[in-house]
Amino acid sequence: MASAAPEAEQEQVVNPWEVSAGKGGIDYDKLVDQFGCQRLDAAIIDRIGRLTGRAPHRFLRRGLFFAHRDLNEILDLYEKGEKFYLYTGRGPSSEALHLGHLVPFMFTKYLQDAFKVPLVIQLTDDEKFLWKNLTVEESKRLARENAKDIIACGFDIERTFIFSDFNFVGGAFYENMVKVARCVTYNKVVGIFGFTPEDHIGKSSFPPVQAVPSFPSSFPHLFPGNDQLRCLIPCAIDQDPYFRMTRDVAPRIGYQKPSLIESRFFPALQGENTKMSASDPNSAIYVTDTNKEIKTKVNKYAFSGGQDSVELHRKLGANLEVDVSIKWLNFFLEDDDELENIKKEYKEGKLLTGEVKQILIKVLSEMVERHKRARAQVTEEMVDAFMARRPLPNMFG
Ligand code: TYM
Ligand code: TRP
Repeated sequence: MASAAPEAEQEQVVNPWEVSAGKGGIDYDKLVDQFGCQRLDAAIIDRIGRLTGRAPHRFLRRGLFFAHRDLNEILDLYEKGEKFYLYTGRGPSSEALHLGHLVPFMFTKYLQDAFKVPLVIQLTDDEKFLWKNLTVEESKRLARENAKDIIACGFDIERTFIFSDFNFVGGAFYENMVKVARCVTYNKVVGIFGFTPEDHIGKSSFPPVQAVPSFPSSFPHLFPGNDQLRCLIPCAIDQDPYFRMTRDVAPRIGYQKPSLIESRFFPALQGENTKMSASDPNSAIYVTDTNKEIKTKVNKYAFSGGQDSVELHRKLGANLEVDVSIKWLNFFLEDDDELENIKKEYKEGKLLTGEVKQILIKVLSEMVERHKRARAQVTEEMVDAFMARRPLPNMFG
């Protein structure tokens, strides 16, 4: 009976807790169809450029944010002069962020600057208590540490509210949670999240917590009397299940559905069949890594699409489809022409893997250095200021 399925047939799994795929890497086209989201096409990216009066972010130009839900509705309203708010979050499961976590936050910062809109950032310390076997105190400490890395991404304090669930849940936020909870059956969460009868009930109780920041009435100090304000959520596509649930419930409780803009995963050093994950330190580069650690990890672990010998490489060139250094440069090297040139020469065998890795190490080291400098400027008082429950009078200005 128990015949192992051949690797090619292995089902890909993408949910908030697990990302894995067969040898060929994650099939994002299939994911869009399976989840029922829409593709982010060139027309909508041009439209973002036109509406914001600035070049679309490289993550858009290069298809790294590749899917959406009802983004056009947000843009239609924005064109008529109506604003919206942004919502994103982080589950504080590790001391420091890794480069994959930076992707949604860098992108959110660009959206905030380009559209001039307010932003709420949820730190789900409760989620990590429930899933990761951390103590309440440790989850709260990690949330605060992570807030520093998030603030270091450059968010505007006049337009940004950061909150931790343990501190903020209550009042109107909690009222919205129970409204959502009453609309979702156990069968439904089993279907969406795959919970089993052996899972503790804390897991089933959590999804409303992640759902309700999508509703402006959860933040009476920010959006009083503005219950129909639209919400846009930037995230990687692993978070989609939460927001499928949210969008299903919203109209039933008289609220607008949130729109989403979703990214591919920043791949692990080992290759594209999984995402960079904090649970495997050799798969990840952290914003706290030293230049030496970055150099060692890239040289040792970054999966290469180059050939086995220099002679063969000069003749056949590199396979860019599987080369992790190229994929990472695609995320973080800003200059389009330089990137195209590197790809061309590597593919033709003029550049060797070691040389491409050198370029990558330089780009990453500079970026991580910049981040460290910014984080060193973030004081405890600034964290308190970003996390204070306060009105943001100039948030749309
Ligand atoms: P968390 O902390 O696992 O991840 C934070 C954000 O980073 C994205 N992400 C990645 N993006 C690209 N490549 C990767 N390798 C990668 N790994 C993680 C995640 O999709 C997420 O956007 N439950 C959430 C916290 C949360 C949240 C939200 C996130 C609460 N509300 C609203 C987004 C939007 C969590 O634990 O994320
Ligand atoms: N559930 C996410 C995780 O464990 C964290 C999260 C909470 C989140 N709210 C979010 C991610 C909003 C993206 C958008 O990874």
